Amino acid sequence: MIEVWEEAKPYQDKRGDSGHALSVFNSSMNLCRYYPDANRTVISLVDFLHDTGYSQVEKELLKKFIAKELSPDEEKAIRIFHEQKGVEIAGMILTKVGYEDSIIKRVQYLIEGHDTNKEKFRGDLEGEIFKDGDTLWWFTKRNFIKEAKAWRWTREEIFTYFSKHFEEPDLFFTPEAREIARTELALRFTED
Ligand SMILES: [Fe+2]
Ligand SMILES: [Fe+2]
Repeated sequence: MIEVWEEAKPYQDKRGDSGHALSVFNSSMNLCRYYPDANRTVISLVDFLHDTGYSQVEKELLKKFIAKELSPDEEKAIRIFHEQKGVEIAGMILTKVGYEDSIIKRVQYLIEGHDTNKEKFRGDLEGEIFKDGDTLWWFTKRNFIKEAKAWRWTREEIFTYFSKHFEEPDLFFTPEAREIARTELALRFTED
């Protein structure tokens, strides 16, 4: 596992979101405590590798993407592109490290569509836990600071924005993730 982490490092956290992959990993592993049947190896690998595809997006385009300066169609194209490139990078790294084919295919399956086809993950235990870990990132202190900077928003504006997201009924697959988000949001409210 550590070899995968090391191999993925040069491709990691390219969206101005340093610490994202590790944060998703921490949240997913936390959720796994409630779901002992979940395959932790698969989830960890997806956590580490899912956003590596952002490393292949052209720099100026990525800057605009981060600052929300693109049209919805342009944004979607980048999301699909990072999923496809992530599938390729995951395949390359996992093959190099020596994972068996069934694991590689499973990880690639979960990276494909992870931002553009959420419904695919419903009922897929590893998929649900990974996606909830990914969404929980939104409510972290690190993300609040990052988004406030990227969008030039005040702390109150960011808080209002993510509070609205929290109210979405299908935001999370697991009830545990929603509870964690609730706690995180309350913490964000009390912080300076
Ligand atoms: Fe992503
Ligand atoms: Fe992500």
